[in-house]
Amino acid sequence: MHIHVTDQAGTRHTLEALEGFRVMEIIRDWGLDIKAECGGACACATCHVHVAEDWTGKLYPIEAEEEDMLDQAFDVRDNSRLSCQLLMSAELDGLEVTLAPGTQIKGRAAA
Ligand code: FES
Repeated sequence: MHIHVTDQAGTRHTLEALEGFRVMEIIRDWGLDIKAECGGACACATCHVHVAEDWTGKLYPIEAEEEDMLDQAFDVRDNSRLSCQLLMSAELDGLEVTLAPGTQIKGRAAA
């Protein structure tokens, strides 16, 4: 199965994804620029993604902890999620996300 990830520069990547991995781990392990500072503990918001509209309803609902963390992210939208809280499963084959501003390892490139 695969996920599609648009990076901060607007380039779309199709990445092979394994069931049970967090979406953040897939993005990081394929070498895209994602800070994911806390390593998936829902404590940094630097794995923030915007989820394509078709997919938002298929995700496990957001929990309070994730919502609190997202409050500290940049450019938070209705379709914002922390990619470390999204677990890859067969239903998410084809998932489409965009890395949000503030997720780059080198900080906010546009700033
Ligand atoms: S990696 Fe830190 S909140 Fe997702």
